[in-house]
Amino acid sequence: MPLVTGKELLEKAVKGNYAVGAFNCNNMEIVQAIIAAAEAENAPVFIQASQGAIKYAGLDYIISLVHTAAKKTFVPVCLHLDHGTDFKQVVQCIAKGFSSVMFDGSKYSLEENIAITKKIVEIAQAAGVSVEAELGRIGGTEDDISVSDRDAMLTDPADVQYFVEQTGVDSLAVAIGTAHGQYKAEPKLDFDRLAQIQKLVDIPIVMHGSSGVPDKDVQKAISLGVRKVNIDTNIREAFVKGVKDVLNKNPQEIDPRKILGPAREAMTEIVREKIRVFGSSGKA
Ligand code: G3H
Ligand code: 13P
Ligand code: ZN
Repeated sequence: MPLVTGKELLEKAVKGNYAVGAFNCNNMEIVQAIIAAAEAENAPVFIQASQGAIKYAGLDYIISLVHTAAKKTFVPVCLHLDHGTDFKQVVQCIAKGFSSVMFDGSKYSLEENIAITKKIVEIAQAAGVSVEAELGRIGGTEDDISVSDRDAMLTDPADVQYFVEQTGVDSLAVAIGTAHGQYKAEPKLDFDRLAQIQKLVDIPIVMHGSSGVPDKDVQKAISLGVRKVNIDTNIREAFVKGVKDVLNKNPQEIDPRKILGPAREAMTEIVREKIRVFGSSGKA
């Protein structure tokens, strides 16, 4: 089927009280694993491309891979730009066939973030593409920061209503204590902050840095309005473990298909598990 917008996927998730998985892709095997998992679970999915993915694979390859995958499958697929930071690139993604884009203006002041996000919403809306924005700053697990600095990065509920009203975004990524990458210790999510934010806005909330967040915490976040859950690191881990397992068993293996095939299966398994945790199994 043709790509669907993020707005469409998330509106259904709001009605059904579940979250849709948003899985990062970097190559063909990852795209195929996400689709195989979504089909096995009969679930809608976001397939998203980060700046790193675009640099590695190239925008046109990513678009072709995901368009091909969507065309061949019966599950709804949204192609989403993850952490777009460059206005021109976001517009290019809209023009080239993404069905959803994120503008991450977290490095800007509130007013600058609003101004750029608003411009992108205008362009995206005219093209029938959804927009996710970021308020607060979702860092990386490698960032060594003090507790007070970390708190300063979290989404300030006082800004939320104003930001959403001014920009007209379709969904909002919030900083509530998650981080990108492998956690050194179990993350402590600020559920009170999330509950406060949920009361202030009626658009779907997005959780980033979700690999390594315990299932019960992910599900609690979903009960408090999270409708899109981003997963990258868990897929990378499964990929690398799959490759290592083959090469440890047979160091002489030289056929890439025999190395990447099992890695693809390992990624399919982890994506299936996540879909079940998010409650989107059977929601295609
Ligand atoms: O947003 C974070 C993702 O894990 C993407 O990271 O730019 O290294 O692909 P990346
Ligand atoms: P993780 O790599 O921590 O799962 O985060 C993914 C993400 O938020 C992509 O935007
Ligand atoms: Zn992210």
